[in-house]
Amino acid sequence: SRIAVFASGQGSNFAALIAAERVGLLGGGSIELLVSDKPEAPVAQRAEEAGVSTLLLRPKEFASRELYEAEIVAELQRREIGLIVLAGYMRLITPVLLTPYAGRIINIHPSLLPAFAGKDAMGQALDYGVKLTGVTVHFVDGGMDTGPVIAQRSLVVEDNDTATSLAERIHKVEYELYPEVVAALAAERIGLVGRKTIIREK
Ligand code: GRF
Repeated sequence: SRIAVFASGQGSNFAALIAAERVGLLGGGSIELLVSDKPEAPVAQRAEEAGVSTLLLRPKEFASRELYEAEIVAELQRREIGLIVLAGYMRLITPVLLTPYAGRIINIHPSLLPAFAGKDAMGQALDYGVKLTGVTVHFVDGGMDTGPVIAQRSLVVEDNDTATSLAERIHKVEYELYPEVVAALAAERIGLVGRKTIIREK
């Protein structure tokens, strides 16, 4: 499958996905495009260095969210993109993108959903004082981190954890888990019935 990664920030997950593809760990998926709503974001630079095409748009320059997304959909269709992988893309998605990509758009979130949806999930978890947190990969729907869960990994919050130390361990988990799930989706090994997903083993 031809994959577009959407990202707004640092792009370390984008880099992990590119690295996984290079060593044959993306299940026949190929990353063809980076879409970003922040043309100045470090992820755009990473894509250029990796030789991945970019679509860099400023949503503010469009009359509506729908028109912004319609421009993206046109480009995805032109490039025959089959899967959308959100990796730190900080925007809600509308039906303009969701309808043509139903069941083919996923996100990664740095908490065990449904706990700590939305922004700064790791900060929310630390403030709450939970002893366990983790990473969730889920299908995307119109809500904020609300779609069906595909995979979760937990990790222990240590007594001396800071935002930095926790983020470092969360990221490590993300860089392993996301390529595995993208590979499964690219190989059509993920089933979805209602909210329940099943990953078929290779
Ligand atoms: C990740 O922690 C991801 O879970 C969240 O946004 C962050 C993106 O980090 N959705 P990066 O841009 O991949 O470094």
